Amino acid sequence: MSTQTHLFRQTSRTYSRPSKGSLLKWIGNKYKMAEKISSYFPAEYGTFYDVFVGSASILSTVAPKFGIGSDTFAPLIEIWQTLKADPSLVKGWYSERWEYVTSGEHKERYEEIKASYNANPNGADFLFLTRSCYGGVIRFRKADGYMSTPCGPHKPIPPESFSRRVDEWSRRLTGSSFLLADYREVMSHAKSGDLIYCDPPYSHSQAILYGAQDFNLNQLFDQIVECKERGVFVVLSIDGTKKSGSTVCDLPIPEGLFERELSIHVGRSMLKRFQMNGRSLEGHEVTDRLMLTY
Ligand SMILES: C[S@@+](CC[C@H](N)C(=O)[O-])C[C@H]1O[C@@H](n2cnc3c(N)ncnc32)[C@H](O)[C@@H]1O
Repeated sequence: MSTQTHLFRQTSRTYSRPSKGSLLKWIGNKYKMAEKISSYFPAEYGTFYDVFVGSASILSTVAPKFGIGSDTFAPLIEIWQTLKADPSLVKGWYSERWEYVTSGEHKERYEEIKASYNANPNGADFLFLTRSCYGGVIRFRKADGYMSTPCGPHKPIPPESFSRRVDEWSRRLTGSSFLLADYREVMSHAKSGDLIYCDPPYSHSQAILYGAQDFNLNQLFDQIVECKERGVFVVLSIDGTKKSGSTVCDLPIPEGLFERELSIHVGRSMLKRFQMNGRSLEGHEVTDRLMLTY
């Protein structure tokens, strides 16, 4: 993997506001916080890395001249790589499925697409499912990865609106490329002056609820230490709220690793809206902690 860090510096961003609409819905996305988060990025840096890229809300907001988006979830990376290679194909994926689902028994046809995805996980089905599933919350069965979310009651956005989003996202992602890769592999390639944004699949409230946490935060901190030593700027987002809404302080953060910490407040959580099924949302405002190595 090569970057052009030493030849060019990104001094100004093309965009600093999120796009008007998301391309796909992804739990834990940072759309509502994207403008705020990116406002804390350094004024100059080399290559921009979004190493848990998910729905690319930060990458598309920054719209870097030189960017890398990576994730270990293959259907997501298939969507991003196809958007780069052939945006019209992504438009076609969506419109075929939209027409199919809306021309008949909505729920039955949604279930057919879901069955197709579960038989062979792929970006085309996955993209449509994120836009049409209940609450926009894709759930996977822990044992075998089966995507289990039922059909949502809403009509997914029409192909014309989706196509406009594809065009806008293609422009925003012109300077970026996408890799199916673990964050450790990608972070090891960053050079002095590059910027890495980390939005790991870590939620303290879920660790409390389920008692176990698959994602190893210590390994991420080790990587951040190494990057900082090489002169790479790193920004880390962590869901820092307990169920009560108070901030947690007991994360295993190495002494002196971060120079600054900020609280980012946004509106209500998509997951909470789904779980609570329309009941009161008081006390469920989202607060994220943003930690900077510079
Ligand atoms: C909280 S989400 C990121 C959301 C993203 N910032 C957005 O706005 O949509 C975490 C992402 O990390 C990915 N992921 C999980 N383990 C990973 C790993 N070891 N390396 C890279 N990505 C990983 C998941 O597939 C998921 O997309």
